[in-house]
Amino acid sequence: MTFTKLVVLVVLAASAKAADHDMYHNCSRVDVCSQNRELERQERYQVILEGAMFSQGVASFRVQTADGIEDVGLNITAIEGNIFRVQIEETESSRYHIQDVLDGEPTIVNFDDVQLWLTSAEIFLGSNRAVVNFSPFSIEFYVNDVLTVVIEGDRLTLQNEELHTPFTVGVSFTQALHLYGLHEHADYLALRTTAPGGDDPYRVKTMDLTYYELHSTMAMYGAVPVLYGHGINSTSGLFLHNAAEQWVEITNKDVGADAFFMVDSGALDIFIFLGPSTTDVVRQYTSLTGVAHLPPIWTLGYHQCRWGYADQTDVETVIADLDANDFPVDVIWLDIQHTQDMKFFTWNSENFSDPFDMLANLASTHRYLVTLSDPHFKKEEGYFVYDEATANDYFIKNPDGTNYEDECWPGTSSWMDYLNPAARDYYSSLYLYENWNGTTSTLGGIWNDMNEAAIFNEEIEKTFPYDVVHYGGVSNRDIHNMYGYLQTMATHKGLIDRDNGALRPFILTRAHFAGSQKYAAFWTGDNTAEFGFIPISYSMCLNANLLGLVFCGADVGGFFGEPSEELLQRFYQAGAWLPFFREHSNIGSERREPYLYPEDVQATIRETIKTRYAHLPVWYTLFYEHTRFGDPVIRPLFYHYPNDVELLEIDDQLLVGQNILVKAVGESEVESVQVYFPGGENEIWFSAQLDGTTFPGTGWTDIPVTIERIPVYYRLGSIIPTKQTSRPSTTDMKDDGYTMIVLLRNDEMAEGTIYNDDNLSFEYRDSQKYIYADLSATDMLLVISAIDDSDDEEFEIVIDDIVTLTYNDDGTVVKNSYKHDVNGVPLNQMKYQGKEPLVINLR
Ligand code: GLC
Repeated sequence: MTFTKLVVLVVLAASAKAADHDMYHNCSRVDVCSQNRELERQERYQVILEGAMFSQGVASFRVQTADGIEDVGLNITAIEGNIFRVQIEETESSRYHIQDVLDGEPTIVNFDDVQLWLTSAEIFLGSNRAVVNFSPFSIEFYVNDVLTVVIEGDRLTLQNEELHTPFTVGVSFTQALHLYGLHEHADYLALRTTAPGGDDPYRVKTMDLTYYELHSTMAMYGAVPVLYGHGINSTSGLFLHNAAEQWVEITNKDVGADAFFMVDSGALDIFIFLGPSTTDVVRQYTSLTGVAHLPPIWTLGYHQCRWGYADQTDVETVIADLDANDFPVDVIWLDIQHTQDMKFFTWNSENFSDPFDMLANLASTHRYLVTLSDPHFKKEEGYFVYDEATANDYFIKNPDGTNYEDECWPGTSSWMDYLNPAARDYYSSLYLYENWNGTTSTLGGIWNDMNEAAIFNEEIEKTFPYDVVHYGGVSNRDIHNMYGYLQTMATHKGLIDRDNGALRPFILTRAHFAGSQKYAAFWTGDNTAEFGFIPISYSMCLNANLLGLVFCGADVGGFFGEPSEELLQRFYQAGAWLPFFREHSNIGSERREPYLYPEDVQATIRETIKTRYAHLPVWYTLFYEHTRFGDPVIRPLFYHYPNDVELLEIDDQLLVGQNILVKAVGESEVESVQVYFPGGENEIWFSAQLDGTTFPGTGWTDIPVTIERIPVYYRLGSIIPTKQTSRPSTTDMKDDGYTMIVLLRNDEMAEGTIYNDDNLSFEYRDSQKYIYADLSATDMLLVISAIDDSDDEEFEIVIDDIVTLTYNDDGTVVKNSYKHDVNGVPLNQMKYQGKEPLVINLR
């Protein structure tokens, strides 16, 4: 298919709105779901007492079918940090075990005690306990003596066929009021009950779901088999360490919720997280699959993207127009068109004839370029990647051993086999400056798209058929969900090698799996220019943040369709408070760079982008805290207010860290919205306009809105570090001083943290070169003091202004602004340089 034909197709298709339900299979058309969904609860397996063994944190049992024919092993392992690992597998098994997903081997810890009875075994670990009941078989997990998670033996089935090893298992979260997780779906944050005759089970499979719909359990680009059960007293969770297709039936009850996993293949390898807090569960999960390293700071700025920047003049003009109209921006993106005939690692010789010149121009304005690089390669002899990958057997194979071929952007293509370590190394090497002509470090990031993988073939649901074969004879069935993950792993290594490990890579991926945070940011794919896609972006990115995938955003404006001016402004306003902030649009849509709009629209978007830049210190500090603790960057309300049952389902509001509360406006022409203020009457929320308006945390409140902005609040007791000088890019802000916004009550302390480093390198990680400091303030004293010994004198914190808002018991607010201390010394002459605390006395 030629490019022009494709463009026509896309443009035509843009008028359609719904996913193709004939093409994408529902449960009834997929064996593992249709055959198991109505599985009867029945005792199929029993543990036998003889042969039970306990050593060094591992308990092993033999499990048999009731007729004693099938011999199965059960291992329960204690992992550091309140985690149990449960593995159930036939003694003679052909199950595939995925590699490279965990962030190193989990640390096994010794059990505190084991008690073996005739009918059960009890394994003690800290204040937790796992109980293996022999018959009927189940594994119960107790947190402080409260039964919290049960692996249900009566829904366990194992099929052990050559090349196909499906299994089912039920897990009950007995204390949960809601379940969260099973990313990625365009659905509510709190998972819904699914049931035969109603919604399909949540399908977990990486797929290019074109025209995805709202509130659906259909599979999408990402597949993260992690589930959290949240109740009033505790949160618990699980991670199914398996990359095959899964369908998960959810049954919510008044108290307690059940998940029934129907898994197409691979190993039954489940990590159980016993919390007990939500923070603990998230940290337990990220301790296993890793955290994101700090992003280079420019990636936290505004990204201007479009499938349609067609030549280098376009690139320069768009940046110049953004500058001329005072829109801060850090990055411009090039989609498939930068290549020669969709051949990745080439430049289009006509339209990008001098990429060095384009990159040098961008660098001179302190901007970066990101280009797209997909996993498929045009079948064309003479195209060096195709030739080299074919010669070395680096492409995915058909069962008969020939290269697998199908259609994608370049026409007939083959797909790199990232399961093959040599293919990964080869692919990584393509990113080296010497191998990809016309690149410099100004090409600061790579966009790995279409890596579910997406294929232009509707017969196979637009993704790999399971009989394609990867390295070592591994069927796609066993690793389907981690294909994109493996691509980003190779890209990440490529970028690290390219810059000799000096610079932090940036990668945006569409497909993602458990642990993708180690390598890449992701976005919610091809959304639509409709209001409902604004709140769903909050729901999806909140869910992802709970699952370690912190660097999440959605196409501002909506990929398909044409946003009205109102919708575009609302998209910007919501998107500015998601970790990844990029406008993007489909080639068939009208251009929508913000300077193309009337001045009032421009003014709103300008203020929105500038607000984002002002809060960069908040974002950067939160990303650092993620790398250090594994915490989410944005958080659903229940993360900080776990005991409030009223807010467990709120998913169009988010907390940036703990201190900033944001409500997305996802409806047209509203004059007011309902905002939920959490925390009780002593938790006071200040309007981020700093106009002295406050709201107590007593629940739903009607808040008037205009088109100028969405509701944003700061929490009493916090210090918000900002930079208020407007600059064209984050690079230009490097030496700017901070404005500390202090929200306090008389006689009480306000607190915060601040992080600073060189913005770009790994020295923060490898040489502890950074500043990470505590902020504390009363209304007359601000103190900055080191959290770490490592605070480095290279990175000073200079404060230009301190703005205090003091809340009085009668509800009034006094606002003060300081540029000098009590002795008239300008604040910006008193620098915090690490180690020694800086005390600023305002009295
Ligand atoms: C996919 C991506 C989209 C991109 C397009 C062309 O649809 O999701 O963002 O613009 O491919 O590369």
